[in-house]
Amino acid sequence: MSELTLRFDSNKPRKLKYNLAAARQEGASTLLTFGGAYSNHIRAVATAGRTEGFQTIGVIRGEEHLPLNDSLAYAVSQGMRLMYMDRESYRTKNSAGTRRFLESLFGDFYLIPEGGSNAKAVQGCAELPAEITEPFDIICCPVGTGGTLAGIAAGLAPGQRAIGFATLKGGFLPTEVVKLQREAYGRVFDNWQVEDRFHFGGYAKVPQELEDFAADFGARHGFEVDRIYVAKMLYGITAMMEAGEFPTGTRIVAVVTTENPAA
Ligand SMILES: Cc1ncc(COP(=O)(O)O)c(C=O)c1O
Repeated sequence: MSELTLRFDSNKPRKLKYNLAAARQEGASTLLTFGGAYSNHIRAVATAGRTEGFQTIGVIRGEEHLPLNDSLAYAVSQGMRLMYMDRESYRTKNSAGTRRFLESLFGDFYLIPEGGSNAKAVQGCAELPAEITEPFDIICCPVGTGGTLAGIAAGLAPGQRAIGFATLKGGFLPTEVVKLQREAYGRVFDNWQVEDRFHFGGYAKVPQELEDFAADFGARHGFEVDRIYVAKMLYGITAMMEAGEFPTGTRIVAVVTTENPAA
């Protein structure tokens, strides 16, 4: 059998660390970022803004729905200003034209992309593996925009591998990871893969089988398993272990990317 260890380690502070440092260095007083109405990243930027002394603007995909859901209400409670962008315009969020438009509304800002994944985020995530003191062979994480996997893989020692579990359907995630590693390091590492078999139909899709698995896993391990990201990774690892896809004795670390429930 292979052996599984959980590592509670939110990817959000790691993704923001060098972005906040760059924003400070550029003298920016405002952070602007993009996200869906339930985005963990929007929450994280709002928190970072309050604790690190930046104003924050969240550009939210779609229309405003009142009352605000818990994520957006939280972001506002941290001082974040919200702006809504219709879905068509939102698709142009990375264009120079949209940036100029946002600057005309809000003045100068430090831009953090949707999901927080850019070269600086990758560099922050690359610090994670070396902080794990127990020896391991494989490290696993969920994949949304790819920055966490790109960084974790870059931070591995020789012989170690990273497996990212896709939480979205479409098969485009490896391309994103490649792009992010190129941006961050000017090269692509060959010690990672994206597992595409366990997204359960797409982003935020939680069929009963996954729900039952997550509830059971959470009860046995004493924490609330995030259904959108973490459950899909844990389901995938468990299925692969049961199918004997890892050689006997493989030491696997699963990064639970939500906030530490014990903290
Ligand atoms: C809890 C959690 N885990 C994992 C991820 C995926 O990280 P990445 O977008 O860097 O692939 C996210 C989203 O960004 C997340 O909120």
